[in-house]
Amino acid sequence: MTVLWWQTGLIYQIYLRSFQDTNGDGIGDLKGIERRLDYLTSLGVDAIWISPMYPSPMADFGYDVADYCGVDSRYGALADFDELLDQAHARGLKVLLDFVPNHTSDRHPWFAESRSSRDNPKRDWYIWRDPAPDGGPPNNWISDFGGSAWEWDEATGQYYYHAFLKEQADLNWRNPAVQATMYDVMRFWFDRGVDGFRIDVLWHMVKAADFPDNPLNPDYQPAMGDMHRVLQLHSTDQPEVHGIAAEMRAIAESYAANGLGERVLIGEIYLPVERLMPYYGRERAGVHLPFNFQLIDAPWKARSLAKLIADYESALPPGGWPNWVLGNHDRPRVATKRGQAQARVAAMLLLTLRGTPTLYYGDELGLSDVAIPLAQVQDPRELREPGLGLGRDPVRTPMPWERSENAGFTTGKPWLPLNADWSTRNVEQMAEEPHSILTLYRQLLAMRRTHPALSVGDFALLDAEGDVLAYERRHGGERLIVALNLGRQPQRLQLPDWSDWRPLLSTLADAAPAVNGALLLSGNEGVILKPH
Ligand code: GLC
Repeated sequence: MTVLWWQTGLIYQIYLRSFQDTNGDGIGDLKGIERRLDYLTSLGVDAIWISPMYPSPMADFGYDVADYCGVDSRYGALADFDELLDQAHARGLKVLLDFVPNHTSDRHPWFAESRSSRDNPKRDWYIWRDPAPDGGPPNNWISDFGGSAWEWDEATGQYYYHAFLKEQADLNWRNPAVQATMYDVMRFWFDRGVDGFRIDVLWHMVKAADFPDNPLNPDYQPAMGDMHRVLQLHSTDQPEVHGIAAEMRAIAESYAANGLGERVLIGEIYLPVERLMPYYGRERAGVHLPFNFQLIDAPWKARSLAKLIADYESALPPGGWPNWVLGNHDRPRVATKRGQAQARVAAMLLLTLRGTPTLYYGDELGLSDVAIPLAQVQDPRELREPGLGLGRDPVRTPMPWERSENAGFTTGKPWLPLNADWSTRNVEQMAEEPHSILTLYRQLLAMRRTHPALSVGDFALLDAEGDVLAYERRHGGERLIVALNLGRQPQRLQLPDWSDWRPLLSTLADAAPAVNGALLLSGNEGVILKPH
């Protein structure tokens, strides 16, 4: 089997606004990423995914695109992107863009045309519906950011649909002209040399053609957020989306077929495993990697994680390549959810499971969610439904680089506050510390390169008790065991008797786990073992 870069590699997610500012405006930019490329290669990442950089009114910080083929002047210019791409490629780094096909900004020229009159040729590029008989919205669909998903347009007397903010109008993907135009957008970036896309809210892209009401959610609690009042049965995950994913895949594959390099598509999909798997493709191949977000919310218990991993592995379709994620720009950080001690164990888990890992910037520093003072809240999600803990600013704070002012992120005023512990929790400091979580990430990434069993090897769970999650990775003649103690108490793991084992790496400082037929793990310790 040929192994491709997106199967062995680690993808590093860069939240552009918060990575590195170079012009003093307090938000990150493309030149900032370029400045930090050497950091990324020294960390051992293989690919970067950059959050949306396109011209945008920033109602949803770039997920409201006003021009799919440009760069927002706050982030730089197209030439800066080309330069970044060249510099990344020169270092062997792949570059993925964030593609936002489900919706455009309401300020996109297409939407301006669409809303200008009912008979405008672009009217049907978006989702326009007549009011319900009582004059209200056409159905009960709710925006993911709360409130009705329908916005009234006085001038033309219809509602338009927006799964997110009213400033993010959903495109009508049933319209062939929309499809063709958006596929051209993909080609525009592929032709420039982009190595792939993360596709925003892929499962939202097609809605039921007759727009029936969504069923009420019997388990709804107000603390969940307004969107959970209904189950998104008809507004998401429609069968026709797979045809679109297959078209996108065919475009990506056409580059490899012409000797222009393997391109990858990663779909953002929040669905239970059985509904996630079809995104790998049905009759035709779908996206290469439907994001697997299960680790973000799973109970941090050895037995349930073992079951989750086994169930996911066995649900994969033939040829479907797994992938794992601990966090992203929408969800609480792993160090906050699991605590600092377990963040190290989680790092070992992420980098030793079978499949492509995606690492969220700052997680390699054990960055936690940062409490944002009320007056500094930026995220529309928080502003629309305050106080429920749904806001995403806490996980989008600036990357702390150095011990100098503003942690080297900006010479201006950072758009969001830095982590309070930035003077010690920063790249410069932690790179010097032999036992920092940053050093652990480096070691784990280096180990993945020198031991292919960790990236492409077969995976088998081992019998374990208590808080221990243990598995074997096997490739060619190599066998490795990964044993993770998810609890605070010491634990014992009976080792398979087919070899003598010695520790290759522990998550703990100066650890020398005793191995003698059995492995003794300290609390919060993970180890990789290899045969003598
Ligand atoms: C995705 C993005 C999120 C954004 C939403 C609307 O879920 O990850 O940040 O707000 O789509 O585009």
